[in-house]
Amino acid sequence: MPRPDPARSVAAAYDALAPRYARARRFRERGRLDAFLEGLPRGAAVLDAGCGSGVPVARHLVRRGLAVTGVDLSAGQLALAAERLPGLRTIRGDLRRVALPAAGFQAIVAWDVAFHVPRAGHAALFRRLARWLAPGGRLVLTLGGSAFEGWLPMGGRRLFFSGHAPRHALRLLRGAGLEVVSCDEDDASGRGHLVVLAVRPVARGVGPRPVGRRPGLRG
Ligand SMILES: C[S@@+](CC[C@H](N)C(=O)[O-])C[C@H]1O[C@@H](n2cnc3c(N)ncnc32)[C@H](O)[C@@H]1O
Repeated sequence: MPRPDPARSVAAAYDALAPRYARARRFRERGRLDAFLEGLPRGAAVLDAGCGSGVPVARHLVRRGLAVTGVDLSAGQLALAAERLPGLRTIRGDLRRVALPAAGFQAIVAWDVAFHVPRAGHAALFRRLARWLAPGGRLVLTLGGSAFEGWLPMGGRRLFFSGHAPRHALRLLRGAGLEVVSCDEDDASGRGHLVVLAVRPVARGVGPRPVGRRPGLRG
């Protein structure tokens, strides 16, 4: 029997948690994000996939002069985003279904969102992200970093999390036509949390070559 889709519950949880989440959110990934954005021209189209309340990530992108579109499931999160970043283009929608232009973005940031999507849908989600990227475009994506699926407590509620083992997740990203540039674990507690950098090649065999070390992975 198919399992019920957790999206409605995830959206309701973030509707309720939005102000609290916003207060607690720290900008630990600023350095990574700056490195990711290096060389992107002002005005470049960037998708903040699962933008939440827009702070700190979308705000940082907007301040760099990028043309940012934020997509999120939660009306509560998007209401906060509209209040804090009146110029931000926002779309309420599920990344698994929302219609966005093919090759419409030079960069996509998907920070802490894929782990709320059931892993059975990760391959399809990665294909969508790849399709939205312009050839040569770049993606930064975080993942839970372990083969886990279930409900965990957060802020007095239970939230759905899902992920594959890193090797499998990277296989799915490559299968979506993306070139994985790096994959790092950024959680000192050792519980996982992977930051993956990938690009959509310009054309087969012609695209940007992977830079830096090959990702070292746990199985
Ligand atoms: C942990 S928060 C991260 C928010 C923001 N990216 C950040 O780094 O602060 C996860 C966000 O993803 C959104 N979300 C979860 N599943 C989604 C989906 N399938 N489509 C769009 N947004 C989703 C939630 O509503 C929530 O705002």
